[in-house]
Amino acid sequence: MTRYLVTTVLGVSMAASCLAAEKDILRFDPDNYRIDSITMPMGNVVRFKAYENIFYVRNVEDSAYQKLNIYVPFDLKGKSDVEIPILMRNNIGGYMASPAGTPTPADATGRALAEGYVLCIPGARGNGSSVSKDGKTVYTGTAPNGLLDLKAATRYLHYNDDLIPGNSERIFTDGTSAGGAMSSLQGATGNAPEYDGYLKKMGAADASDAVYASICYCPITDLNHADMEYEWLYGCTNTGVRHLDAAQIAISDELSAMCPAYIDSLGLTDSEGNKITSENYMDYLKTFIMASAQKALEEGCEIPDSIGIIRYQKPRPSFAQMLGSGPANGGMPQRPPRMEGGAPRTEYTDYVIDVDWDKYLSYVATQQTLKTPPAFDAYGVLKDAATPENRVFGNEQGDPSNFTDFSLRKRTGNPDASISEVLATRIKLMNPMNFIGKEKRQGTAAHWYIRHGAKDRDTSFLVPVNLATALENAGYDVNFALPWNRPHSGDYNLDDLFRWIESVK
Ligand code: DHB
Repeated sequence: MTRYLVTTVLGVSMAASCLAAEKDILRFDPDNYRIDSITMPMGNVVRFKAYENIFYVRNVEDSAYQKLNIYVPFDLKGKSDVEIPILMRNNIGGYMASPAGTPTPADATGRALAEGYVLCIPGARGNGSSVSKDGKTVYTGTAPNGLLDLKAATRYLHYNDDLIPGNSERIFTDGTSAGGAMSSLQGATGNAPEYDGYLKKMGAADASDAVYASICYCPITDLNHADMEYEWLYGCTNTGVRHLDAAQIAISDELSAMCPAYIDSLGLTDSEGNKITSENYMDYLKTFIMASAQKALEEGCEIPDSIGIIRYQKPRPSFAQMLGSGPANGGMPQRPPRMEGGAPRTEYTDYVIDVDWDKYLSYVATQQTLKTPPAFDAYGVLKDAATPENRVFGNEQGDPSNFTDFSLRKRTGNPDASISEVLATRIKLMNPMNFIGKEKRQGTAAHWYIRHGAKDRDTSFLVPVNLATALENAGYDVNFALPWNRPHSGDYNLDDLFRWIESVK
């Protein structure tokens, strides 16, 4: 009898604890997968386990988006669990809602699996996502909800580190454009207490949301300063290739005039410790465009003289000199010898010595029409249409909103109008610059890979340059470049990206 009682009590308590375990929908189930494969561009097949449609919060508001997919390759390249990085890629564009994604052979997701990494592609609420509540449409993707979703997904990975293959202390976030902005936010705001209340309410796992590294392609970020940064840079094209009308020029001039104070307020320094101010900023920016053009020349790229890249031409050896100095070769001139280690042929490459900004920025503007002022907070200023940014800062009823006092005042005609406190908090939470101090902060990603194409006009060059410089100044490891001739795009030069991942992981 006693034995029976003990067994019963034990049985009941075990059942209860099983029930409790079952109720924790945030625990990863290692047995719930299907097997799939992708064929890489070179023809090799990568097989993996696919764990899909996993909710990463307990209180799901939008079941279409608050889910993640995890892919684990069979071939882990002989790495032990702690050596396996996790690529956490988002597919967010235009601040739109984005469902949990699947791997693609030709981008970083397929490449990650081929490299033996674990891949996670979370979905996130954003522009356009909505649910029906009490017969009414409620828009679920207003800022900072998309970011909160990515943070909740990160917490899921940490919370289940013992069950999910790979090392949750080696999460690399990756995104492009609005997704690049989100990646930068994940990196800059890891474990920041400002988000705790929201995450708790969502029922996110009680775990870290810090990531090890952030990969940010053309991040459309620093949104509340992006309009002034755009006009300050591109204002020189207003009456030329940009063809602005008088009203647009007036807005451009007003915005541009606000930018120097912002630049000066950042207190940035260059790699030698010299202060970067609005006075010398364009010279600082020049160093990145010059480095980009120089690298392109060394890789054999042709750069027309007309676009403002000023070069010093190293004297070429004469034809006779080349014939005389080279080995017998049937009278053909020699190509310059390759440098040791397979480095590019640089002996006769021109040196980039300066940038003519008017010419170069006009060239960029001929590649794709520039945005009209204001480039981001445009709603109700010179046109009625709302931008993706106006929508993401909008309300649950789907109305867009201004997110700068400047545009709010223009739209309302009230020179004293200002953004509400509630909205100001949301705007603050969506800007990584607010979380990068003068020194390192625990929780911020240690490593950064930031790219913005040298002809990408979707935001001002100042945005990625300031982000990279602020991070570098604070002591983080930053790999930053403006790759030559690249438009607004991401996930290019995967060899370079994965070399970098291998070097920091
Ligand atoms: C994106 C591009 C933009 O120009 C913009 O303002 C916001 C988002 C994008 O491609 O994600």
